[in-house]
Amino acid sequence: MLEYVRNLFKKQLPPLSVSDIARSKLTYLPAAKLQNIAQCIQKIQTQRVPGDFVEFGVALGGSGIFIARQMARSRRFVGLDVFGMIPAPGPRDDQKSHERYRVIASGESEGIGGDRYYGYEPDLLTKVKSSFAAYGIPVDGKRVTLLPGRFEDTLPHWNLRKIAFAHINCDWFDPITLCLETTLPLMSPGGFIILDDYKDYGGCKRATDEFLQRHKNVTLLDSAHNAVLRVF
Ligand SMILES: C[S@@+](CC[C@H](N)C(=O)[O-])C[C@H]1O[C@@H](n2cnc3c(N)ncnc32)[C@H](O)[C@@H]1O
Repeated sequence: MLEYVRNLFKKQLPPLSVSDIARSKLTYLPAAKLQNIAQCIQKIQTQRVPGDFVEFGVALGGSGIFIARQMARSRRFVGLDVFGMIPAPGPRDDQKSHERYRVIASGESEGIGGDRYYGYEPDLLTKVKSSFAAYGIPVDGKRVTLLPGRFEDTLPHWNLRKIAFAHINCDWFDPITLCLETTLPLMSPGGFIILDDYKDYGGCKRATDEFLQRHKNVTLLDSAHNAVLRVF
């Protein structure tokens, strides 16, 4: 039994470093945001907070791969995204968000490091699956699952389970509110929710602040880079 556990342990790939994933050109996240993710996951694992790891807003898969490579073998990763063009912002989003969307929709957005913008890829889902496989975490529908489609459509059919860590990176007010409210009842006490866009887009800050007002069992621990929330 002990040998079996040792072998399982040996097969576990080591976590990716922040510089490894930053070099991959698969993520928009700077080092400080990735460090916060790594620290939360480390706490979840040392404190044995039960549950899956989820990401809302996968794009090219960079932060998702970084998260999935930190997980202990017993956990699952679920990534949700349209894997295509980002849906439009709404009336509760700020001018900056609407301007960003205008550039994307016009076909003029640049990708990471001068690459093609991911939203213009003809088959983004296949590309993202290849990237997960290349980093040693194949999308097998068991340990790692990607759910394509708008959250509004996929979340009602999602096989919902306990969540220990949620990374919410979908930019605009409405999807962020939906993801927060769907995730909270599933969160284990001691689990973390990170909102990537808290300092970047007004709709994300507004959605997060209103959510914190409604739910007193959630605390904002840090918002210097991304917003780090802990659920009690
Ligand atoms: C900034 S990108 C995610 C970046 C990624 N986490 C990384 O490592 O760089 C935001 C993603 O959220 C997705 N998204 C936004 N609103 C959505 C919605 N309503 N349903 C599904 N996906 C959505 C977009 O398609 C886009 O891929």
